[in-house]
Amino acid sequence: MVPTELHLASGSPATAEADAVVVGLLPATDGDGPPRLATGADELDAAFEGGLAALLAVTGATGKADEVVKVATRGAVTAPLLVAVGLGKPGTDGIPRADQVRRASGAAARALAGTAHAVSTLGRIDLAAAAEGTLLGAYTFTSYRSNGHGRKPVARVDLLGGDADAEATLRTAAAVGNAVRTARDLVNTPPNDLFPESFAARARELAEAAGVEVEVLDEAALAAGGFGGVLGVGQGSSRKPRLLRLTWAGGARAGAQADGHAALPKVALVGKGITFDTGGISIKPAANMDHMTSDMGGAAAVIATTVLAARLGLPVAITATVPMAENMPSDTAYRPGDVLRMYGGRTVEVLNTDAEGRLILADAIVRAAEDSPDYLIETSTLTGAQQVALGMRTMGVMGTDDFRDRVAAHARATGEDGWAMPLPEHMRSELDSRVADLANVTGARWGGMLVAGTFLREFVPDGLPWAHLDIAGPSFHSGGPYGYTAKGGTGVPVRTLWSVLTDIAENG
Ligand code: BES
Ligand code: MN
Ligand code: ZN
Repeated sequence: MVPTELHLASGSPATAEADAVVVGLLPATDGDGPPRLATGADELDAAFEGGLAALLAVTGATGKADEVVKVATRGAVTAPLLVAVGLGKPGTDGIPRADQVRRASGAAARALAGTAHAVSTLGRIDLAAAAEGTLLGAYTFTSYRSNGHGRKPVARVDLLGGDADAEATLRTAAAVGNAVRTARDLVNTPPNDLFPESFAARARELAEAAGVEVEVLDEAALAAGGFGGVLGVGQGSSRKPRLLRLTWAGGARAGAQADGHAALPKVALVGKGITFDTGGISIKPAANMDHMTSDMGGAAAVIATTVLAARLGLPVAITATVPMAENMPSDTAYRPGDVLRMYGGRTVEVLNTDAEGRLILADAIVRAAEDSPDYLIETSTLTGAQQVALGMRTMGVMGTDDFRDRVAAHARATGEDGWAMPLPEHMRSELDSRVADLANVTGARWGGMLVAGTFLREFVPDGLPWAHLDIAGPSFHSGGPYGYTAKGGTGVPVRTLWSVLTDIAENG
């Protein structure tokens, strides 16, 4: 698919040669009056003799989030079509927040499907958010359509606005948007084509093209290395497991001496890569089992983010450790009652083969920690309990107190949304095993998200700042599209990871 082209533009939207122009709308300050034009629409309003907001009010526009109204301009401005998108209620300072601009830009991009060339004034409010929202709203996944079903995404959007750094801002935002799209593509690729070996091969291509070092451990190397969690989970499938390792040594700090990478902060990323989760012998019910094609959403995000860091030369040393397996029931599958010897030597009694994510992640976390990172961030579609606790749009963030809160704040700032959750001490003993060091599940279903986090904590070295992002709900969207979110893979938490990494680059 040809991605939507973004350009920086200057000049008046009223005289721009384009097929459509986009303006933002805000709700009336006093409740139910006519909507107000957002920043950036002055020339357009002048072309409508100061009556643009009133004209849009006639169509029923109110300025609420996700609202899209189209009006023919009939010669008032050069573009024949005007698209007004609601931004929703702004913050107390009257300025729309970045995610409001992102959402409105996404809604506009969806409404512009089939259009060749549009000009958007939303860049005058927040150029980066407008660029990201446009790229994400324009996203479609059509690789498996034999007849080009559906309308083509808008081919080109010119974004007005920006200061002296506008070109750099746009370049960064486009790279971030494209990283999210890459993660979506990986999640949306069906499990008959995306399995551990092919997933690792795709990741290798993406990484090598960006100058990231790649290592892939196959089943023989996993056996030689003692990766009992990955091997145990993967042994029921004819498509054998893999462990992917990506290394980005870090870009030069602006103005830094040529003293190598010694001073750069080191971050370990870990992402769950179950290419399909049937549950294994503890098999899942048939209803909605197809959603388990998205059980590698954490892996997709970690891969896309590492590649993004390399593309943008981020001055942070990153290693990504990504366990990949297909969880299948078969005569070779691992069973309830099996005891696995994990990487590093600890033993785990498997009481439920559907709690497989934590098993492959335990191996990966121990391996990742061997590089002595300054921070460890792991993300996974780990528990249905995350969805029960926080719903489909808010990730659960667990880990060491300070870093967990820092990461959760980034999740909210990016609009991906996350909330800090506890790891209550009493849960550890619920994971005691009859025969092994640890069991993979407890006997009760209470607090399942926290139990999974508690299990993972057992494999994180003391003193290492650590965050675990449970994205079971937020990584996959099964309802209708809204804002910049399409049906299917969402690309969450790429923007949260990126936001945390840039913060670490600046502040350590
Ligand atoms: N991949 C699932 C979690 C999941 C559920 C992700 C729904 C996305 C949507 C995970 O491997 C799983 O099966 N977890 C079990 C754990 C249980 C057996 C303790 C669950 O949540 O039911
Ligand atoms: Mn499972
Ligand atoms: Zn799973």
